[in-house]
Parts: sequence; structure tokens; C-alpha cells
Amino acid sequence: MKLKQILGIDIGGSGVKGAIVDTKNGKLLTERYRIPTPQPATPDAVAEVIKKIVNHFDWDGPIGVGYPGVIQHGIARTAANLDKSWIDKDLNKLFAKTTKCKVHVVNDADAAGMGEMKFGSGKGFKGVVLLVTVGTGLGTVAFTSGKLVPNMEMGHILLHGNDAEKYASDAARKADNISWTEWAGRFNEYLNRMEDLLWPDLIIIGGGASKKDEKFIPLLKTRATVIPASLLNEAGIIGAAMASKYYNKLD
Ligand code: BGC
Repeated sequence: MKLKQILGIDIGGSGVKGAIVDTKNGKLLTERYRIPTPQPATPDAVAEVIKKIVNHFDWDGPIGVGYPGVIQHGIARTAANLDKSWIDKDLNKLFAKTTKCKVHVVNDADAAGMGEMKFGSGKGFKGVVLLVTVGTGLGTVAFTSGKLVPNMEMGHILLHGNDAEKYASDAARKADNISWTEWAGRFNEYLNRMEDLLWPDLIIIGGGASKKDEKFIPLLKTRATVIPASLLNEAGIIGAAMASKYYNKLD
């Protein structure tokens, strides 16, 4: 199978986005194509949207998909901010059936991390890197010598007795209607806990909030250096394509 070009797709809370990625240099070969996430976002409804994206690009090659929950060998195991009907669905199979293409589905933070480590802010960094995606939830992934352990799910550690992402995600900032400064304080608490558990050398902030990095990164007090992700909006798509390339080679 040719893996120079892969269709990367990112399933998000508000939109499902895709583009064809050149896996040699991580550049998008097409414009991003975005379709609003259907409501309710059931597996079948999202599969139809993915099919529309595939048809839009007239695509019949390999596909990588980033999904906002735990994915074990193509099977969804959690759905923190999605319809619970995703749990235990074999998404590699479901999306392959609707698109007639070879599909690899991975956790969205794992995908974003793979993109950033290969082509973005973490490129060439060999130490321990923690990447946190800040959006509807808190996605986490850690790398050492460029290798990751999948599905870390550290966005759900307890902070003040509650799920951390309900306190320190971008959605929590909006829901609680707090200033960036107040939110930065919450996020700082979260990062300090993560530092005590993982001792990263470098922390990369991705997800929607990475576009607003100047509003909170200068306020953070951490041991490790904190930098924004550099692939921004495209990290999920590029990373999903890179994850597909990686898993295609293992098959
Ligand atoms: C999910 C993670 C996901 C993150 C970002 C969390 O709620 O549990 O799997 O990576 O949101 O979408």
C-alpha cells in the first residue's frame, strides 16, 4: 500500500474535519474540508459524515481518524463527551465498511502528539514530552525518545475531587465564564499535578486553546518549559494521517 498520501480526519465536538496529508513533510495537500458534527453524534451518523468527506476528496487510499476517547486496536472504549453508543464499537471496521477504504482510528490526543513530534513543536526532542490538548476535554499524551504509550487519559485525574477536565478544560473556562487569568490558575494546578506524576522535560499545549497561548502560557509557573503546539488547527488531521502510516506498517 502506498503511504505517501493519507486522508487524515479529526472527529471533534463541533466539526469533523479532513484533508489529504503528505506524510513525508506533514503538509496538507488540499484545503481542510469541515462538516458540522451531527447531533446526536452517534457512530452511524458520524460514519456517514466521514463517507461524505471521503467522497468530497474522491479518495480510495488509506485513512487515519482521530477520535476523542480511548481506542484499543480500533475499538472505542470510552466516550467522555460523546454519545455512549460508541463504547465497544469496532471503529476501524465500521468506517472501513462505510468508506470502502483501509481505516485506522486512534485517540485524538495521540494523533495530535504524533503530528507535533514529527513535524511540529516537539520535532527532534528526545526527552520526556507531555502534550495536553485543551478543548472540550483535556487530552494527554506523553513521549520518551519520540515513542508514546497510547490512551493515557490523564485529563480525568481528580482535582478538588472532580474530573480535571471539568475544572481546567477550555469548555470549563467558557461554562464557568471565568477570565483567562483565573482559568490559567486552574490549568496551572492541573499542570503541577501532572508534573508531580510524570516529570516531563517539555510540555506542549495543543487543541483549540493553543491559538490563544499568549493569554495564558506567560502566566504559568511550571518546572518544565511550556510551549504551544505549532500545527494548531491542523495537528489532529496531520497526526491522524501519521498514526495511520505507523499502524499500516505494523499490520
Ligand atoms: C477523552 C480523551 C480525549 C480528550 C480530548 C477526553 O475527554 O477522554 O480520550 O483525548 O477528551 O478530546
